[in-house]
Amino acid sequence: MVTAIIAAAGQGRRMGAGSNKVLLTLAGIPLVVRTVRQLAACPQIEEIIIVSGPEEMGEMHSLVSAMGLTQKWQVVAGGSERQYSVANALAAVSGKAEIIVVHDGARPLADQTAIENVIAAAREYGAAVVAVPVKDTIKVADANGFVATTPDRKKLWAVQTPQAFQAAILRQAYAQALAEGFLGTDDASLVERLGMPVKLVTGSYRNLKITTPEDMVIAAALLEGERTMRVG
Ligand code: CTP
Ligand code: MG
Repeated sequence: MVTAIIAAAGQGRRMGAGSNKVLLTLAGIPLVVRTVRQLAACPQIEEIIIVSGPEEMGEMHSLVSAMGLTQKWQVVAGGSERQYSVANALAAVSGKAEIIVVHDGARPLADQTAIENVIAAAREYGAAVVAVPVKDTIKVADANGFVATTPDRKKLWAVQTPQAFQAAILRQAYAQALAEGFLGTDDASLVERLGMPVKLVTGSYRNLKITTPEDMVIAAALLEGERTMRVG
């Protein structure tokens, strides 16, 4: 079976809304509800674990309850860093899970193809992440704010979520990171440290992470544009 973990326990500091951005509404629907809906629409996913800020557990629970999910679901409390939030969810994942998909609550626009493809790649290779080729040229800076190097753009990928893993691999990666005090910014980086392969699955630029206020405008425009294109 496949379990999805949705990390939604952040504080949304860069959004500057004064509250967790995943509770903001995007075209009338809370971000986190949109995100849960996208994962719940994947027929392979049989269990959903939503990680919530400890103070928002009640609100999160009511929002998800109202969705009437057919899957088994639960809300667990997050930690001070994303990695600790996912670790809390991992402890709640059913022993029957073969594949675990980890997704950001702040990515409401993940499409079904990306979700299906990353799960298939995890079954085949053990670990897989959705990613897109970077559009900008990326520079590495030195400590004084000068350019140190310019990596070849053709080799650079902007990594998103969903990221999917064979359950034993993700559990091992998390246990080892905890034991060694390693803190990564995504789940795959914990697997990479074990020397295990992580497959890149080409996704879409549409799957943006809502991080700063302009991302809300872009996401709303994407939804509106697609709605009117469908109608027209
Ligand atoms: N997240 C989490 N637990 C944390 C921190 C982040 O579950 N302790 C989640 C966020 O809710 C978000 C995802 O991880 O859905 C990606 O993190 P990010 O975009 O950085 O969100 P925030 O941490 O909320 O935002 P910021 O860094 O601007 O405060
Ligand atoms: Mg953050």
